[in-house]
Amino acid sequence: VQGTEAGGHRGGLPDDDDYGVLPLLRLTAARCDRPLVAAGGLVDGPAVAAVLAAGAAAAQLGTAFLRCPEAGSSPMHRAAVAGATPTALTRSYTGKRARGVANDFLRQHDAVAPRGYPQVLHLTRPLLAAARRDGDASVANLWAGQAHPLARDLPAAQVVAEVSADARAALATVVARSARWG
Ligand SMILES: Cc1cc2nc3c(=O)[nH]c(=O)nc-3n(C[C@H](O)[C@H](O)[C@H](O)COP(=O)(O)O)c2cc1C
Repeated sequence: VQGTEAGGHRGGLPDDDDYGVLPLLRLTAARCDRPLVAAGGLVDGPAVAAVLAAGAAAAQLGTAFLRCPEAGSSPMHRAAVAGATPTALTRSYTGKRARGVANDFLRQHDAVAPRGYPQVLHLTRPLLAAARRDGDASVANLWAGQAHPLARDLPAAQVVAEVSADARAALATVVARSARWG
């Protein structure tokens, strides 16, 4: 269940829905009794707690791992994920909507980029390869979800351990708070 907050390509076809992960999760749960895995904009423990409280069986995190030493992210991509520039959804790079940190290439081509995956990718591939080679962050696709500034430069195992512990703590806080509702 991938909300529009997610980094990278939209998982579904058609790719023009813009549901946030919480409404999408609740709408899907109302129609489907299978275990649901929530994804999109989940980088820290409290966000994972939120989707578990909303009925998800599990949470899937992508952007949270882009700064890990184990990740294949380029230095340019890591810097963009660590920065504060907001993301946008665009067909500029591949012809299929995907979310990345906004840059010149994304802004210049977004309005005219056709729905045409993977044909647009075949056109942009040499350009994107050159941008990657040259470290040109104004052209390269910098896939990241909306919560990217929260991603940390830590080993992946530590990210998993800390997100799990923080999710547990957030859920305990909510339980304690709700006990005061009377
Ligand atoms: C660098 C990167 C590449 C991705 N590539 C794809 C992809 O090719 N196809 C796809 O369906 N989802 C892709 N995704 C989306 C992930 O499967 C997942 O839904 C997303 O990372 C969850 O949101 P988050 O990044 O905010 O955690 C990608 C995500 C990232 C961060």
